[in-house]
Amino acid sequence: MSIFDQHHDRHHTDSVKWDSISQTYGKENLLPLWIADMDFAAPSAVQQALLEYVKQGIYGYTMFGDDLYTAIINWQKRRHQYEIKKDEILFSPGVVPSIAISIQAFTNPKDTVMIHDPVYPPFAKMVQENDRKLIRNSLKVVDDHFEIDFITMEKQIVAEKVKLFILCNPHNPGGRVWTKTELKRLGDLCKKHNCLVVSDEIHQDLIFAPYQHETFHNVDETFADFSIILTAATKTFNLAGIKNSMIFVKNPQLKAALTAIQAKSEQDTINTFGLIGTKAAYESGEQWLTELLEYLNKNSEFTISFLQKNLPQVKFMRPEGTYLFWLDFSAYNLSDTALNKKMIEEAGVVLNGGFTFGPNGKQHMRLNIACPKDTLKQGLEQIAQAFK
Ligand SMILES: Cc1ncc(COP(=O)(O)O)c(C=O)c1O
Repeated sequence: MSIFDQHHDRHHTDSVKWDSISQTYGKENLLPLWIADMDFAAPSAVQQALLEYVKQGIYGYTMFGDDLYTAIINWQKRRHQYEIKKDEILFSPGVVPSIAISIQAFTNPKDTVMIHDPVYPPFAKMVQENDRKLIRNSLKVVDDHFEIDFITMEKQIVAEKVKLFILCNPHNPGGRVWTKTELKRLGDLCKKHNCLVVSDEIHQDLIFAPYQHETFHNVDETFADFSIILTAATKTFNLAGIKNSMIFVKNPQLKAALTAIQAKSEQDTINTFGLIGTKAAYESGEQWLTELLEYLNKNSEFTISFLQKNLPQVKFMRPEGTYLFWLDFSAYNLSDTALNKKMIEEAGVVLNGGFTFGPNGKQHMRLNIACPKDTLKQGLEQIAQAFK
């Protein structure tokens, strides 16, 4: 039995995944297979480091220690062959807050910011909340996976004078791990048209062999001139609640613009738990991650064979990375409201509505498979029963 088979009762922990849904849907006992956190305990080294800090009893101001920088630098080098220096790292409470400050630092109100469609919903939200013009570039579905439509992308960048592109690398939803060739073409396009790139790489460690994550700065030595990388240990090690993330910025002008925005609201200090958790995870979490990826890979294989056998009308994308399945329910010809209602009332399962990821997400749903296999099996059986 794997440690990931173990059940943890997350009810009454103020978990968004488990505790918010009875209020949202007015129904008890719904099975949550939605928002991207995992029903697995974090590595014991992380738990231990946090416990030790709690036990010493003093929770005063904390600085970014050298050991923290070393842990981040070593992790990036070892796992991603990416060389980053201490003075090229900034901290932020989260990747989404980092997207917001990047928009504020690199563009002006009414400037155009481009994202893919479908993509993680806060990309659009941050662009709109910051009063920038949002342009969506549709991904193409080719052979049951997403591909970038470079021709339309270039036309839109030129026509709309796009200043900034927010890349999801690897992609959520759908789990595409963009290849070096794809990223090179995308980077060349943005470089040609003076469009900055923010590369959200929060899913960088959640990759299934033989796929390989490419850090955007590693694709071409000039790409660091016009791009920044956002990442965190929080998605990899299930630490979203401790709120910590990093920005990797090599161009001094981009760094100055970001720090100026952070300084305006003292946003460059981080919750101590975030710093401790990140350091412990990167220093001592690697074996846990190896086991996690094996477990997720098995859950992914199980999901694929279950869907093929029991829900043949549901088209899906085999994730190359991430623990998030993108399911296409269009064969049932239901509206998004009717689809979600069926999922809640008949299947008793909560998934993310695909329409929230952009217009191309209509009639889709996103399924989170990062839970014990028997929970996943139960959820899939309930869905299959409802859609029989
Ligand atoms: C692509 C992507 N970026 C960012 C986040 C969230 O980042 P944070 O919690 O650090 O704001 C998620 C969470 O699912 C995500 O999928």
